Amino acid sequence: MSNLKAYLTACQNRVERALDARLPGEDILPQTLHRAMRYSVLDGGKRTRPLLTYATGQALGLSEDALDAQACAVEFIHVYSLIHDDLPAMDNDDLRRGKPTCHKAFDDATAILAGDALQALAFDVLANDPAIQAGAEARVKMIAALTRASGSQGMVGGQAIDLGSVGRKLTLPELENMHIHKTGALIRASVNLAALSKPDLDADVAKKLDHYAKCIGLSFQVKDDILDVESDTATLGKTQGKDVDNDKPTYPALLGMAGAKEKAQELHEQAVESLAGFGKEADLLRDLSLYIIERSH
Ligand code: IPE
Ligand code: IPE
Ligand code: MG
Ligand code: MG
Ligand code: MG
Repeated sequence: MSNLKAYLTACQNRVERALDARLPGEDILPQTLHRAMRYSVLDGGKRTRPLLTYATGQALGLSEDALDAQACAVEFIHVYSLIHDDLPAMDNDDLRRGKPTCHKAFDDATAILAGDALQALAFDVLANDPAIQAGAEARVKMIAALTRASGSQGMVGGQAIDLGSVGRKLTLPELENMHIHKTGALIRASVNLAALSKPDLDADVAKKLDHYAKCIGLSFQVKDDILDVESDTATLGKTQGKDVDNDKPTYPALLGMAGAKEKAQELHEQAVESLAGFGKEADLLRDLSLYIIERSH
């Protein structure tokens, strides 16, 4: 794990530079909107999704240079989802990544627009960024994958199920379906964008990576639910206990804390099993799966 820590720091610095370079400057009109976008994207977050894109690239022998744009695209969608998730009409949160949420630092309308613009920027990057080395056909496939993962049958669909489930007791399959969509879809896309960057990739290898991604996409949200109960606001950088306050359906609520932890462990084991055909080149993916269920924030 200590190797992983050094890798995480180096990668987070790389992601910060790559995001900064792709965001419009604060001096460009409309300045308040660009300030809000930069405020929410930069200087914060674990960057788990970009890390997964680079780690998948490492498993496939791709260079980090060839993956910067894909990593940024998925992080832009993720940050847009966080800005909107925090709005009063959704989870109504004041704190995100250790600082006031976008609508608190600016205002609701600016936060809505900053999210909208980040979403558009993600697809602009996939369509046009010169760092992407794969050809036009691969770009179209990447755009299609991220579109599906973001929309009503992906993240946004999951968020709709989440908001529609408040105060209702979901069955385990319903809860799993919600988590797979609201969080799992983008995590899966983070892995698949790297797989699509290698156009001649064997279909069976792509399928195994996708299965790995499905498992960790779910374990990521199971752990998020656990941390909401067990961690504290300072460590999380977001308000602890919000799920209970908002009467959200979660894994600990449904399975109990021990059951939720068991579920996270099982998903980690399944994720690692999906990588059985890979050698050391996939160690980072294995380590990231463990990191996801062991992280403190
Ligand atoms: C939080 O995501 C929202 C979920 C989808 C669970 P992260 O835990 O990845 O948040 P950051 O990017 O590190 O702030
Ligand atoms: C958020 O789930 C999922 C997305 C932002 C798509 P949560 O509402 O549990 O995320 P946090 O806990 O606010 O980060
Ligand atoms: Mg939410
Ligand atoms: Mg929330
Ligand atoms: Mg949460």
